[in-house]
Amino acid sequence: MMSRTESRIAKTTMTEIDFKSFPTTRYQGSKRKILPWLHEHTKNLEFNTVLDAFGGSGSVSYLFKKMGKSVTYNDKLKFNSIIGKAIIENQNVTFLKEDLENLKEWIKSNDYNDFIEKTFKGIYYLPKENKWLDGINNGIINMNHYRGKTLEYKKSMTYYALFQACLIKRPYNLFHRNNLSMRTADVERNFGNKVTWEKSFKMYFEKFILEANKLVFDSQTPCFSLNKSVFDLDNVDYDLVYLDPPYLNKKETNETTNYLKCYHFLEGLANYNKWEKLIDFNSANLRFKNIDKGNHFRRENVTETFEELIKKFQNSTIVLSYKSGGNPSIDTLVRIMKKYKKNVYTRSIPYVYALKRPGTDIKKSREVLIFGI
Ligand SMILES: C[S@@+](CC[C@H](N)C(=O)[O-])C[C@H]1O[C@@H](n2cnc3c(N)ncnc32)[C@H](O)[C@@H]1O
Repeated sequence: MMSRTESRIAKTTMTEIDFKSFPTTRYQGSKRKILPWLHEHTKNLEFNTVLDAFGGSGSVSYLFKKMGKSVTYNDKLKFNSIIGKAIIENQNVTFLKEDLENLKEWIKSNDYNDFIEKTFKGIYYLPKENKWLDGINNGIINMNHYRGKTLEYKKSMTYYALFQACLIKRPYNLFHRNNLSMRTADVERNFGNKVTWEKSFKMYFEKFILEANKLVFDSQTPCFSLNKSVFDLDNVDYDLVYLDPPYLNKKETNETTNYLKCYHFLEGLANYNKWEKLIDFNSANLRFKNIDKGNHFRRENVTETFEELIKKFQNSTIVLSYKSGGNPSIDTLVRIMKKYKKNVYTRSIPYVYALKRPGTDIKKSREVLIFGI
C-alpha cells in the first residue's frame, strides 16, 4: 500500500499522460482522438469523484483514471459496461499465457453451443468465423479456474478482446446492416480495408488480449463500472459528471444515433445464453426486438431529455461533450445549463469524426465542451 504522500506524488506524475498508451478503439463517437484537448480543459477543475455517464469505449474514463480520479464508468449497453469492468474497475487482474491455453480447453469442453453458426449464416462473418465465435463464447462460459472478482475481470478481459476483434473485422465497424457481401464480393474497392477484415479472429483476439493486459493498472483509487440507463442512476453524488450522449443532427438523418442498432451483435455476445430470445427474426440483419424502446435521444423530446439530464446532475460540475449542427442547438443547451449552474462557458475545436455523415460541412464542424460549474 502506498502512503498518502506517495499516492499524491503518483497522482501528480500521472498528469503527464502518455496518450499513445490508451485503448485503440473503433467505437462510434469515441473521444479517443481528442483526449489531450479534454485533458487540457479538465485538469484544472477541482474534483476527485467523477461519473462518465455515457462511457462507450471507456476512453474518457481511462483518461480520468490516469488523472488519479475515482471514476465511475456507466453505459446502458452491457457489452460496454464489460469493457468498463476490464479496463476501468479492474486494477490488477491480467490475462495470463496459461489462461489462453486453458481457454482452448474450455472451448472444447461440455455441450457445444453452435448458436451463431446456425443463426447468423451469411450475415456478418464467414461460416468458419461464426464457428470460432461460438467456440470462444463456450470457452468464456466454461471458465472455471478462478473465483469471485478475479473470475469476473478475467472474463471481462476475454470479452474486451473478443469485442475489439469483432469490430475490426466489420465494414464500417458496425452491425447496422447485413453487408457481409461487402467483404466477399469480387469487386474493385475504393473504401474499407479488405486485408484487415480477412485476418483471423484468433490473431486479433490474441493481439487485443495483449492490449487489454497493457491497459490494466492500479490507480490506487477505487473505480467502478455500471450498466444502467443514466436516467435510472440513483447516486448523483459526484464532484464532476461528464456527459457524452448520443448525437442527433438537425436533419436527423443519422441512423446511427441508436447505439443498440449499431452494436446489437456485441450486446448479443454479452448475453449469449439468452440471445435467441432477444432477436427480432423478422429483421433482415437479426437485430434486437423493440430496438427503439427506452431510447431517450429521439427528435420528439430531445430538448426535454437534455434538461432532465442537466437538472439531475445540477449539484455536480457538469462537462457536456457536444458538436456543432446538433439538435438541440448549442445556444439552447447553454441556456438550459444557465438555469441550473452559475458559471457556464464553452470551449471548441475543429473536429470531424472518422464516420462523417453525408452533408457534413468539414470546415464548419466543431467539437464543443459546455461547462456548468
Ligand atoms: C457518444 S457515445 C459515448 C462515447 C464515449 N465518450 C467514448 O469516448 O467512447 C454514447 C454512449 O451512450 C450510451 N447510451 C445511450 N443512451 C444511454 C442512456 N440512457 N444511459 C447510459 N448510456 C447510454 C451508448 O450506448 C453509447 O455508448
